[in-house]
Parts: sequence; structure tokens; C-alpha cells
Amino acid sequence: MQRTLFICKPDCVQRRLVGEVIRRFESKGLRLVALKLMTVSRALAEKHYAEHAGKPFFEGLIQFITATPVVVGVLEGNEAISVLRGLMGPTNGAAAPPGTIRGDFGLSRQNNLIHGSDSAESAAREIALWFTPTELLDYQLAD
Ligand code: CMP
Repeated sequence: MQRTLFICKPDCVQRRLVGEVIRRFESKGLRLVALKLMTVSRALAEKHYAEHAGKPFFEGLIQFITATPVVVGVLEGNEAISVLRGLMGPTNGAAAPPGTIRGDFGLSRQNNLIHGSDSAESAAREIALWFTPTELLDYQLAD
């Protein structure tokens, strides 16, 4: 069982696609263990995207992710990290195949609707960055 972090980015919230995106996660069988709507501070954005610091798109990415609220959550399930990335599709919406979230709803590389952790190490780091331990809920799902 794995946990992974997702962010419905500002473009996803602006376009009222949050429900559609989370529906896809739940339909696949992933379960929510944390969820919140929030505005991202510059400090949090810079920590989250630290690996991209210095790249030409970094400042634009920080401006984008801090502009209006995001919905951020944690999903749990078998192979949750790769399953989520499969549902998302590749970074560039223009190249993402139909059937994926980015392939169905976007054409942009930056405004690509959703973020998902790319490895177990990233997931652990990102979950700790965005959530306190008490915000991660353990509960049973009815059959
Ligand atoms: P994400 O999965 O959140 O991880 C890094 C983000 O940087 C990526 O999604 C895009 O939003 C953005 N990104 C990656 N490459 C580029 C690029 N070449 N130009 C603009 N934004 C980019």
C-alpha cells in the first residue's frame, strides 16, 4: 500500500474540474486520506518545487501555483504513486494521450491541471510538506 500527494492546480480549480479529477481517482479505487482547499504561500511553493529552482520556467511556475487556491490531497492504494501518474498523463497536455486527465482537459505544459508525486521519496517529502500527521486520517471504507 502506498500514499501519494496530488494537487489540483489553480487552473483545475478555476475551470471547475476538481470534482471530475477526484471522481477519476475514486473510480480507479484510490482512497482519500487527506483533502483541503488552500492558497499556497510563496515559501511553500518554493519548497515544493525546489528541484526546479534556477530553471527558466521556475518563476512563472511559482507565480502560477500561488495565484489562486489549489485543492491538495493524499491518496492511498496499491501502487498509488504510479497509478496516479498514469491517470494524470505526461507533463505536457498537448502530448498527453486521450483518457488521461491532462490529455482530456489541457494543452499546456505549465497549466497542466494536476501534480502527483513522482517517487516514494517525493511522496514522503511532499506529504510532510503539505500536511500535518493529524490531517492524515485512518478510517474504514464500507464495502
Ligand atoms: P508538476 O508535475 O507539478 O511538476 C513540475 C511542474 O513544472 C510541472 O508539473 C509543470 O507545471 C511545470 N513545468 C515543467 N516543465 C515546464 C516547462 N518547460 N515550462 C513551463 N512549466 C513547466
